[in-house]
Amino acid sequence: MDLETYIRALPKAELHLHIEGSLEPEMMFALAQRNGVTLPWSSVEATRAAYAFSDLQSFLDLYYAGAAALIHEQDFYELAMAYFTRAHADGVVHAELFFDPQTHTERGVAFETVLDGLERACDEARVQYGISSRLILCFLRHLSEDDGFATLEQAMLHLSRIHGVGLDSSEKGHPPSKFARLFKQCRDLGLHIVAHAGEEGPPAYIIEALDLLKVERIDHGVRAAEDPALVERLVREQIPLTVCPLSNIKLCVFPTLQGHNLKQLLDAGLKVTINSDDPAYFGGYIGQNFLATAEALHLSRAELKRIARNSLEASFVGDAERTPWLARLDALPED
Ligand code: ADE
Ligand code: ZN
Repeated sequence: MDLETYIRALPKAELHLHIEGSLEPEMMFALAQRNGVTLPWSSVEATRAAYAFSDLQSFLDLYYAGAAALIHEQDFYELAMAYFTRAHADGVVHAELFFDPQTHTERGVAFETVLDGLERACDEARVQYGISSRLILCFLRHLSEDDGFATLEQAMLHLSRIHGVGLDSSEKGHPPSKFARLFKQCRDLGLHIVAHAGEEGPPAYIIEALDLLKVERIDHGVRAAEDPALVERLVREQIPLTVCPLSNIKLCVFPTLQGHNLKQLLDAGLKVTINSDDPAYFGGYIGQNFLATAEALHLSRAELKRIARNSLEASFVGDAERTPWLARLDALPED
């Protein structure tokens, strides 16, 4: 089996995927035309050409501009179906999708419009592809905690449809401590908790996410490597990291994929997973993230299997769903 086929055959979960970040320029333009929205770019090609980022904020500015093409329930449905089609082709058996309601409600799109469209796609993906999925609501950390509370109030009308909450957007200057009260309420509501930390922000933000937000997984977390005591803790507590290698290169967190610390983290005993983050912007879906990382860091098949296992173990599904995936994974050769 060649490496690409092997990676595709690994039953895997995608745990760090912003559904708005899977909006390909072709769909962005088609939706903008259908909805009468004017985009800041003249063409699909000009849009792609603008995807040269210097840091997280330079990406976010474009990402929020592109999301303006999404207006109707059908738009969110088509967006998520396109993602599921790609994920299925890459051997994803389970996906936990992040969505950013504040990006849409701020523009006058109803919370329910977003949720209804995404949920319809999740239901359809189960039938059409056998993919299981969950929705995780992310709060935008550049906005206030009060804004987050207002969003949670809307989400509370639909709690059975939302599996967890996360924290994303501009990390520097917006530490997890800013949202301690909001996440306490989310925990009290029985929601699963994750947060972006240690992507651009310092290891101290990862510690805050653990201690103050009580996260079950860290999104990114690659800067944990700068604090040996923190690495030791993450290993001891087996806190999963949802690492996104191609994203980290595009956003200049590491200069090259060869210089990425994913293997170092894996060797240290951390529960590392591989994910795509915003695949339409960063040049690859989950399969491409696995393949490029495996080649750049010379990961063995046993290591790739370990990473896929980590993703299944770190997912928020019950054992009844997880066990058959693990059995399929165990049945794959390691050479
Ligand atoms: N929103 C979408 N992608 C993100 C990322 N990589 N970091 C923070 N916020 C995001
Ligand atoms: Zn992310």
